[in-house]
Amino acid sequence: MSSSNRTNIPNSLNEHWMPFTDNKNFKKNPRLITDAKGVYLTNHQGKKMIDASSGLFCNPLGHGRKEITEAVSKQLEKLDYCQPFNQGYGGSFELATRIAKKTPEGINRIFYTICGSTAVETAIKIAIAYHRAKGDSKRFRFVGRERGYHGMNIGATTVGGMINNVKTFASVLMPGVQHMRHTHLPEHKFVKGQPDTGVEMAEDLERIAMNFGGENIAACIVEPIAGSTGTLVPPKGYLKRIREICDKHGILLIFDEVITGWGRTGSAFASQEFGVTPDMITMAKATTNGVIPMGVVAVKEEMYDAVLDSSKNPEGTPELFHGYTYSGIPAAVAAGLAVQDIFDKEDIFNRAKEMSPYFQEGLHSLKDLKEVVSIRGYGMMGGVEMRMKDKPGKSGFQTFKHCYDAGVNFKNTGDTLIIAPQFICEKKHIDEIIEKLRTGISNYSKS
Ligand SMILES: Cc1ncc(COP(=O)(O)O)c(C=O)c1O
Repeated sequence: MSSSNRTNIPNSLNEHWMPFTDNKNFKKNPRLITDAKGVYLTNHQGKKMIDASSGLFCNPLGHGRKEITEAVSKQLEKLDYCQPFNQGYGGSFELATRIAKKTPEGINRIFYTICGSTAVETAIKIAIAYHRAKGDSKRFRFVGRERGYHGMNIGATTVGGMINNVKTFASVLMPGVQHMRHTHLPEHKFVKGQPDTGVEMAEDLERIAMNFGGENIAACIVEPIAGSTGTLVPPKGYLKRIREICDKHGILLIFDEVITGWGRTGSAFASQEFGVTPDMITMAKATTNGVIPMGVVAVKEEMYDAVLDSSKNPEGTPELFHGYTYSGIPAAVAAGLAVQDIFDKEDIFNRAKEMSPYFQEGLHSLKDLKEVVSIRGYGMMGGVEMRMKDKPGKSGFQTFKHCYDAGVNFKNTGDTLIIAPQFICEKKHIDEIIEKLRTGISNYSKS
C-alpha cells in the first residue's frame, strides 16, 4: 500500500515490533487509534474515548491544535532541516530564550535532545563534563532512586529503578550507580498531595555519600514526583533535604521533569512548585505538545561557563563532544515555539493549577471502590492502585482494558492506573473521566 492510499486498518501487524507492548496479545486484538481532537480519541472501530493520560503526558494542550500544525507546516516549507553542529538557525535560539524565561533563575542554558531518555543521558554526561572542567575527574558515581523512571538508554536505564526495565540488561548497565529507597510508605495510601511523613528517606543520600564517599558522586537524579511508577508524591521537606545533602558533598542535583515539567504540578516546573532549585532540569513530553520529538536539558549558567572556559581546543572544535543529528531541528522548534505561545496566551499553568483540586477530589472519590487500594496525586497527575482477584501485576492492564471499553483511555503500570488529564479539560471532562473509570473498574470486578 502506498502512503497516498493508506487506510486506518493495516494489512499486516506482523512487521512492527511495538515498544513496551505485549506484541503477541496486542496483535490478536489490536487497539488502533485513528483520530484525535481536543480531549477525545477515536479508535479503529469508530469508538470515541476520552484521553485521561494526555497521550502519555505529551498533549496537555489537547489534540489537533491548529496553531501547532500550522507553525510546523510553515516551517517545513521554509527550512526543513539544517545541521545543528557548528551551524544553526534562528528559531532554536529563540526557543531557548523562551524556555529559559520559564525555568528557575540561573538554569538558563538550553541543550536540545531528541526525547526524555536522551535528555537524561545528556544530563549525565554534562555532569561528568562539568566536574572535569572544574578539575575534579574522580567523580563518576550517580545516585538514582527505586521506582524511578528516566528512560531507556543505558545511562537512563541504570539510574532508573523499575526492576522489569533493568533485569534483562543487568550485564551492560553503567558502573557506580546506587539507589535511594523510594518515598512511598504504607501510610501514604490515600494521602492527597504531599505526605507529612517520610522526609527521613532523604537521608539515604547521606548514607550513600558516607559509604561511597560523597567526593566520588557526580550527581543525584530524581523525578520530583515519580511519574511512571504511578505518581509517588515527595514527602514534605524531602526534596529540600536532598538539595542540602547534595550541597554538602558537592553533588549535582538533576530534576528529571520529563513528566512534571511544563505545568503538570500547576507551576511551570515542579522545582518552582516545591521551592527547590536543582542544577539541571530535563524535560521532554509537553515541550512540543507531543507532535514532534524533542527533549531539553536546562543547565545552570555557571556550569555552561565552566565547560566552555575550560576548553583550550582550536577554533571549530566543540567544547562538549556530545549532540544529536536531530538536536533542535526546525520542525520541533516550530512546534515548541507555538506551544510557548499557547502557554502564555491561555495562561495554561494557572489553568492547570485551578483545575487540580477538582481533579484530585474526583480521583479520591473512587476510594469507596473496594478494588482501589491506594490513590495518590498532585496537580494534574494521579495514580490509582488496584487489587482484584487476579495475581498482583495483572489488575492494572485488565482494568485498562475494561476502561477502554467503557470509553476512557490511559496507561497502566503494574497494578496502577496513571491518570493525567489535559490542562484544557473542563469540569465536565474530569467528571466524564471519573465516571468512566468507575464504570470500567466495576465492569472488571463483575467479569
Ligand atoms: C521522568 C521521565 N524521564 C525520562 C523519560 C523518557 O522519555 P522518552 O520516552 O521520551 O525517552 C520518561 C518517559 O516516560 C519519564 O517519565
